[in-house]
Amino acid sequence: MSKKAKLAFLTAPKTFEFREFDIPETVGDDEMLVKVEACGVCGTDGHEYLRDPFGLCPVVLGHEGTGEIVKIGKNVKFDTAGLPVKLGDKIVTCIIPCGECDACKNTPARTNLCEHCGIYGLMPDDDVHLNGYFGQYLVIRKNSTFFNVSDLSLDMRILVEPATVAVHCVERAKTTGLLNFATKVLVQGCGPIGLLVISVLRTMGIENITVVDGNDSRLELAKEFGATHTFNFMKYPKFDELLADVKKVHNGLGADFVFQCTGSAKAAANAWKYVKRGGGMCEVGFFMDGGECAINHHYDICNKEISLVGSWVYTPQDYPITFNFLKRAVGIGLPMGKLISHKFPLEKINEALETNVSMKGIKIAVVME
Ligand SMILES: NC(=O)c1ccc[n+]([C@@H]2O[C@H](COP(=O)([O-])OP(=O)(O)OC[C@H]3O[C@@H](n4cnc5c(N)ncnc54)[C@H](O)[C@@H]3O)[C@@H](O)[C@H]2O)c1
Ligand SMILES: [Zn+2]
Ligand SMILES: [Zn+2]
Repeated sequence: MSKKAKLAFLTAPKTFEFREFDIPETVGDDEMLVKVEACGVCGTDGHEYLRDPFGLCPVVLGHEGTGEIVKIGKNVKFDTAGLPVKLGDKIVTCIIPCGECDACKNTPARTNLCEHCGIYGLMPDDDVHLNGYFGQYLVIRKNSTFFNVSDLSLDMRILVEPATVAVHCVERAKTTGLLNFATKVLVQGCGPIGLLVISVLRTMGIENITVVDGNDSRLELAKEFGATHTFNFMKYPKFDELLADVKKVHNGLGADFVFQCTGSAKAAANAWKYVKRGGGMCEVGFFMDGGECAINHHYDICNKEISLVGSWVYTPQDYPITFNFLKRAVGIGLPMGKLISHKFPLEKINEALETNVSMKGIKIAVVME
């Protein structure tokens, strides 16, 4: 085995530089060394690639990754769910909660709200360097949450991170008490997140799912995942006409529950209009600041008495639910593998990011050779 790990550093917008560092010969008692197998490209990576809005450059991106444990510290015996781990097991990571902030100390079930949360692939460079999945090796530090996923296929492991975002937002939606077999749901936006939300809903037995997007091939794929009605908003010059057609499939009333899965402020303003009186909405689409969005509080919130939940990434507790979801989704015949539309080797990371930002395909993955 080569003694050097090759890493793709984003050094400036649209600029990757490959740098090599020594592969650590030992790890600390609470650490692991992981040989990266693959990593999905996230919309957040696309934003970093284009503009570095988080100010992380130079950075090794890649947080939707998976790999094999090749060195393990003597204290690392179990994963975050309590499953045993050993050399050769395949893992995914979750987060590194700070352990100090209000969320970490007072609401341990909501560490997704940690104020200083570390995420591999979104960490500044430091002495360790092996900090993201767009590199051949990764060091997993003490207090990280991670999971043994040796029983999942590589494609399912690549999907774990975005799938957990979808699982978390459906878990949030369930807290409204509005989701049951008969619920008429509308999913706005069918990128990877929207398609995974549809998949989670289907595994729960929800069958009346309307989808709105501007891309016909994504809408076709949504149908394969079980969407019952699809609407291309680009084909409607006026929103009111689209709304009227969408409402026709909901007895003229509107959807019982809406999942807002776009990062567009305009789309987010429209989402309220689709909800029926007494219905609910989950806003999951803004991991990045998409700007202000117009809402008429009278018509959109008070008068409809909407139950609204926001959703922010995921908690470690959502991961085991996600593993079951992925197995169940495959089990009921959802074409989960189709979510990964492109695979690139690490050397073609530029092409992988360009494919992501040009919205070609669905989930783009970097796969090590
Ligand atoms: N809350 C969280 O923790 C979290 C985590 C991950 C991602 N996200 C966010 O979720 C969003 C979706 O992620 P993705 O990877 O699926 O992104 P994506 O960009 O691939 O998909 C968004 C989809 O929305 C569609 N769209 C745009 N305007 C629309 C409109 N007016 N009506 C209907 N559809 C419209 C686009 O055609 C596209 O297919 C992103 O904005 C991302 O920032 C949030
Ligand atoms: Zn992501
Ligand atoms: Zn914290």
